[in-house]
Amino acid sequence: MIGKHPAFTAYLSDPLNGGVPLVELGAHPLTPNDRFFVRSHGDIPMLSPSAYRLRVDGRVRVHLELSLPALAALPQHELTAVLQCAGNRRVELLALGDIPDEILWDTEGVSSAHWSGVRLSDVLALAGIDLPRFETGHIAFEGLDTIQKDDQTFPYGGSIPLDKAGDVLLATHMNGDPLPPEHGFPLRALVPGWIGARSVKWLGRISVQDTPSDNYYQTRAYRHFAPYDRKETADWSAAPMLGELPVNSLITAPAANASLPAGEITVQGLAWGGHPVERVDLSTDGGATWGSTQLAPADGRWNWRRWSARLHLPAGDYELTARAWDSAANTQPDQLAVVWNWKGYMNNACHRVRIQVG
Ligand code: MTE
Repeated sequence: MIGKHPAFTAYLSDPLNGGVPLVELGAHPLTPNDRFFVRSHGDIPMLSPSAYRLRVDGRVRVHLELSLPALAALPQHELTAVLQCAGNRRVELLALGDIPDEILWDTEGVSSAHWSGVRLSDVLALAGIDLPRFETGHIAFEGLDTIQKDDQTFPYGGSIPLDKAGDVLLATHMNGDPLPPEHGFPLRALVPGWIGARSVKWLGRISVQDTPSDNYYQTRAYRHFAPYDRKETADWSAAPMLGELPVNSLITAPAANASLPAGEITVQGLAWGGHPVERVDLSTDGGATWGSTQLAPADGRWNWRRWSARLHLPAGDYELTARAWDSAANTQPDQLAVVWNWKGYMNNACHRVRIQVG
């Protein structure tokens, strides 16, 4: 049923959670659908396209129930965008402290695709909402999957503030094909530049409301704790809800612990975030000294940028370290301790890869 590539490895099969190793991620400008990471908290619902309806309600002038043909009749738009799970690179944080009850993602929880579908703003306009006229408020998304947690059964959900709504695509297609079941068929939200958790799959309902979603995954997960907070003392209402992604980068080649002949070596990677990436620096000595890399031209506002550097390395041991910068001059912290938190979210510390040369 799920057509994933042999390189796709699952952390969990029920619910399905997994992705591909860095070498596969770096090999494609956009991640093919069979290699795109999957992060699901519940079942994969098998939805009938003819019975499917998208409900739009809340603080709207007209309540809507939109079929797939009604959505297809709206202007179609395209968006190339990265999707990254807030828990990506969590496993690195384990070196500094326990992270209880979470999937220990390595670097697989990020991918990029070309999405197509309709604009959220066009659907809201049908419901009588003219986005710029609203100053405050939230758009809540609800999925048609079923989460079972703490003896309760409920749909997955999350929300974004109204001022982010203009960027959002309601996607029916991924890299030219209808969304695969595990990625949200027949419709998902795509909130570019924000944590993947807000890009609700199997989208069944959109509500315009005064407050953020009261769904578990908005109120009790995906919040940002400080390095000195602990599970036992966590104040969920005080911790900020996660939204925009920080600037981040990965070294996709050479692979960790590779042994390479001395001489010319090409280092390659990916960089992305909530703001456009402007520069990626590279170090061969663990961050003591830095040099430049070449950034491939930007492919739209929300895609990752591929980068590379050709180095001449004599025999020795090296710690390659990448550090991206964005258009607001934000960069990646040098130390994992700066970003450690007991939920293991938002690790954007500099990515490091050790290699042996000679
Ligand atoms: N939407 C629904 N309905 N159910 C989910 O479990 N997981 C979220 C988001 N949307 C989820 C969901 C999370 S945490 C992430 S990171 C992304 O979907 C992952 O999208 P993908 O599986 O297509 O990569």
